[in-house]
Amino acid sequence: MPAPDLLPLAPVPVSAGPPTVVAEAPYRVVERERGLLATFRVLRRGLLPMMHLFDAMGGDMARVRTRIRTSVLLRHPDLIRALLVEHDAAFTKSEGLRLAKDVLGEGLLTSEPPFHTRQRRLVLPAFHHQKLRGYAEAMVGAADETAAAWADGQPLAMDAEMNRLALVIAGRTLFSAEIADEASDISRAIHTAMALFETRAQNPLTPILRRLPLASNRRFWRALGDLDETVLRLIAERRASHESKDDLLQMLLDAQDEDGSAMTDRQVRDEAMTLLMAGHETTAGALAWTWMLLAQHPDVRQRLFDEVDDVLAGRAPTFDDAKALPYTRAVFAEAMRLCPPAWAVGREATRDVSLAPGVDIRRGETVLFAPLFLHRDPRFWDDPEAFRPERFLDKTERHKFAYVPFSAGRRGCIGEQFAWTEGLLVIAALARHWRFESDGPAPEFFGSVTLRPSAPIRLTAHRRRS
Ligand code: HEM
Repeated sequence: MPAPDLLPLAPVPVSAGPPTVVAEAPYRVVERERGLLATFRVLRRGLLPMMHLFDAMGGDMARVRTRIRTSVLLRHPDLIRALLVEHDAAFTKSEGLRLAKDVLGEGLLTSEPPFHTRQRRLVLPAFHHQKLRGYAEAMVGAADETAAAWADGQPLAMDAEMNRLALVIAGRTLFSAEIADEASDISRAIHTAMALFETRAQNPLTPILRRLPLASNRRFWRALGDLDETVLRLIAERRASHESKDDLLQMLLDAQDEDGSAMTDRQVRDEAMTLLMAGHETTAGALAWTWMLLAQHPDVRQRLFDEVDDVLAGRAPTFDDAKALPYTRAVFAEAMRLCPPAWAVGREATRDVSLAPGVDIRRGETVLFAPLFLHRDPRFWDDPEAFRPERFLDKTERHKFAYVPFSAGRRGCIGEQFAWTEGLLVIAALARHWRFESDGPAPEFFGSVTLRPSAPIRLTAHRRRS
């Protein structure tokens, strides 16, 4: 099977000498000091090249000290488990996510315990198995509409197509509303706010610049104001209508704590905005990269078609079919191994803590792990660069924390099962009718908030059957 030409980056030239080894066993810990100028030079190239350089230091944990901040990259699954499970109480979200509070407020992704613990308890029932069953119809309906709109031989920008589809699904399952319509205020406001947020996220000076009266800041706050207005209007309309809908917004409005308290409009707004933002671009990215990889691997694609044709026998997929599509599931899992939408995850230590013997973290340090690199680490994966879905079908024992596209523990993705359901049903619904071919190399990765292509993923749609 050919190796995909879909790779992280050309090796990053490492200008500094080898890092200092500060611990050797049981975990190898390496360190390096970096001058501010050198740090800014690396940062200017982008977050992903910076993380690549960090990863290239090797070891099970790599630490870079600058005069402003010390950052640590965990490169071993044991240490990632220690961060997310055993010692999670010693960490808060990192600076990047604190910036996201400008958009998401105190939603699940950005809030901290004890408020987060209460909110997670309130939001969790919205993702119950029975609820997912209800959302499945909206997922397949939206995918079928997308499939019906394409013409045989049509060139597509697959990332944009999947983004729009995921936004339609988010709008319907969250608000029972059509928000992806290009002309709609909410669609415009989402795109503007997201684009400006991403520019801010790439700029190391944003924590200082974010409140200054700059034109870009004014545009950002205006777009956010528009988005707020629409979401708060949707909440007010639902409260006023006394009509009960079968969507995530209804679950948020109806949720009650043990003492009978419910969420305020602001809290519902923050959770709804979080589900909308955290839920649509991640799933869209995973799907777009999946189609790219399938186009590059016709043998895998044929095996997926065989499974989908066999299980569906010409009808549209349903919630229960997701369980009967193990190969399709393995394809989606393998695409998220090579192209994890949440490509890097960060925390900040609130106190000194030891993750393992010799692996000590100091208060205030930023602690990161990067699924993009971890998922390709030859210490934990055979033939890591190959797109080989079968690896998720065989029973080979693998370290559970070597595969973490949804993170894990108390701050793990609450939408994970939603994303699997959406991913599998959309793949099955589209694969029934369409085959996508690529006639060029895959674009490179661009490490934004999620893992984006640096240029559109261009594929051509070929009708399999109508
Ligand atoms: C392929 C799709 C998705 C991927 C790869 C993904 C990945 C992740 C990851 C890695 C985190 C942890 C972030 C951190 O620790 O800083 C997370 C958290 C979260 N995700 Fe997802 N996600 C996906 C889909 C979704 C969907 C569909 C929803 C909602 C409908 C969602 C809602 C959330 C929320 C609310 C959190 C915060 C959870 C908490 O801290 O309690 N995600 N996601």
